[in-house]
Amino acid sequence: GLKIATIGGGSSYTPEIIEGFINRHHELPVKEIWLVDIEEGREKLEIVGNLAKRMVEKAGVDCEIKLTLDRREALKDADFVTTQFRVGLLDARIRDEKIPLRYNCIGQETTGAGGFAKALRTIPVILDICKDMEELCPDAWLVNFTNPSGIITETVLKHTNIKVVGLCNVPILMHMIAAQVLEADKDDVLVHFAGLNHLVWGRKIYYKGKDVTRKVVEKLADGVNFTAKNIPDMGWVKEHLLDLNMLPCPYHRYFYLTDKMLKEEIEAAKTEGTRGEVVKKVEAELFELYKDPNLAEKPKQLEQRGGQYYSDAACELINAIYNDKRIIMPVNVQNNGAISDLPEDVAVETSCVITKHGPMPLNTGHVETKIRGLMQVVKAYEEMTVEAAVTGDYNRALQALTMNPLVTDSEIAKKMLDDIIRENIEYLPQF
Ligand code: NAD
Ligand code: G6P
Ligand code: MN
Ligand code: MN
Repeated sequence: GLKIATIGGGSSYTPEIIEGFINRHHELPVKEIWLVDIEEGREKLEIVGNLAKRMVEKAGVDCEIKLTLDRREALKDADFVTTQFRVGLLDARIRDEKIPLRYNCIGQETTGAGGFAKALRTIPVILDICKDMEELCPDAWLVNFTNPSGIITETVLKHTNIKVVGLCNVPILMHMIAAQVLEADKDDVLVHFAGLNHLVWGRKIYYKGKDVTRKVVEKLADGVNFTAKNIPDMGWVKEHLLDLNMLPCPYHRYFYLTDKMLKEEIEAAKTEGTRGEVVKKVEAELFELYKDPNLAEKPKQLEQRGGQYYSDAACELINAIYNDKRIIMPVNVQNNGAISDLPEDVAVETSCVITKHGPMPLNTGHVETKIRGLMQVVKAYEEMTVEAAVTGDYNRALQALTMNPLVTDSEIAKKMLDDIIRENIEYLPQF
């Protein structure tokens, strides 16, 4: 049987991944799931871990749930390691959202300066985890969910010997909306994704052998609601979307509708709070529910979180690797020439054939000029962010932030960077 180690096991998303393994138990023989957390997460780990135990018991599957604060014990001989940890917890996320807003810039946990700060905190921890893996489970696959997922995946690809796949639920949401507007079964729809994590385009959409991209784009331009739970649905500029003629992801709104999104964020910060502040309340409610000894399934209320369908991504990926399914899934992998306009050694988010040897990206070739520029500048920002976070080089960090399209200029980047370093210093051993 398989041993899974889940780092950040106290996450409110844990019931998702447990449900995913339960549903696939007939073909994916998971015998042990080790949920790992840190002292600060002890209480959450116990609550959600006990729910996980009730879930497997009720389902009657032969799988043991282990709760631990000892990461090394959990990693020993693991077959798959999944990561869903949040360095600095929600308070750090809220700071990430608020620092850029001080300078009239987008304050978001994964895009813009917020995602940059999150990367600086997370990279030392993921490198530590990989060091442990190299020693304790060198052949295990790392299935990374921790954000910024593309940047974290690229760090592991470039700086460790660990096999890694990065995940996001956004492409699943895009696949679902495409199927919905086509009134089709999602299994009859294929979306060929290409781009970066949280900057991915559904470049081509097929239905039963026909290219139906235009049809989907026209429906979206007609105003079909389409977003993730954490991103306000501000529609699109109709002419822009129609000419783009591909499916943008909800995070594209931060780039395509920056001013409108910023105003919305400023307004929200004054009223219900930033998304991190809202999530604090949602999470408290979720953990109250999780405490109920009669609850033995994933509650509906988890759908209020932006990461819905996470288990479909994580467990289906593990299933596809383990069973060498050779199905197509959108994941974050080394580019290796799949997108000709990006370097070979960077992480891209693209449709891949999932095999037991890992994901094999479908070829994209060159992308249209209308999406190439944004993709390249954000990738350059990501590459420099990895370098800055690994080395602790202040100037590299300043270049990275300045280059980010959601950061106005170098003066503001410097002020933000100084705030970010000062307010996160306990999580930044490299600085
Ligand atoms: P959370 O705040 O519930 O954190 C999960 C757990 O991580 C907590 O219990 C916390 O104690 C623990 N933790 C913190 N530092 C740790 C460390 N060093 N080692 C082990 N555990 C540690 O977070 P969440 O809302 O469940 O999100 C978890 C992560 O997943 C975040 O990085 C988030 O951005 C990401 N996420 C990704 C996607 C995606 O599409 N890729 C979707 C949703 C969330
Ligand atoms: C999804 C994204 C995640 C993101 C999350 C936020 O949109 O794919 O990467 O971090 O939702 O959800 P939350 O409920 O924490 O705001
Ligand atoms: Mn995501
Ligand atoms: Mn800029």
